[in-house]
Amino acid sequence: AGAPIITVDGPSGSGKGTISRRLARQLGWRWLDSGALYRLVAYAGRQRGLAISDAAGHAYLALHLDVRFDEGSDGVERIWLDGVEVSVAIRGEDIGKGASVVAAMPEVRAALLERQRAFAGAPGLVADGRDMGSVVFPAAELKIYLTASARERALRRHKQLKQKGLSANLAALSLEIAERDRRDMDRPIAPLKPADDAVVVDSTSMTIDAVVERVLQLAAARR
Ligand code: C5P
Repeated sequence: AGAPIITVDGPSGSGKGTISRRLARQLGWRWLDSGALYRLVAYAGRQRGLAISDAAGHAYLALHLDVRFDEGSDGVERIWLDGVEVSVAIRGEDIGKGASVVAAMPEVRAALLERQRAFAGAPGLVADGRDMGSVVFPAAELKIYLTASARERALRRHKQLKQKGLSANLAALSLEIAERDRRDMDRPIAPLKPADDAVVVDSTSMTIDAVVERVLQLAAARR
């Protein structure tokens, strides 16, 4: 087998990103934020004036994205597209919605598959998204499905957007998140659902530290 992989899947606002980044840092492993790739495809498509229904156009972009991920010493994720920093620009809920539309296109998912698998490598990888355990890394040694109540997820997302200086209205955000989750769960290809062998963790009333600790314990128990 190759280098170990831990997958963290779940709905938006479940804390996947925060938890995965922390896990990767504590383990000294690589990190794949696969949602960012779908956001970048939607963002690049918008920049180029593609119709949101243009599957071939978005798949082309997915194959040829010139993207660079970087985590500074401050632990903040930075993302460049075509040499321009887009870390904050891709975080808005409008781009999240566009991402979930292009993510339902089989051509786009296929185009991103190898790019995602290329992140695997020594000493290990923490991959977060919707189908990391079910489709992209089916042989991962530990698969986590992270959830939280809809209200808690909306609150977390709201706080996160505000911290980034992006506008956010809690009521509108709750509806947008519900709509995006429904689209992610109902799509025929790689729908959001726990992999058969995933451990479901409900983080509604858990602190970030407690979730990280729990995942590290589960990982240790498998070695
Ligand atoms: O995680 P994030 O909110 O950044 O993801 C944005 C969108 O990208 C999700 O709503 C989903 O539609 C899509 N996505 C996906 N598969 C992944 C990661 C994200 O379909 N592995």
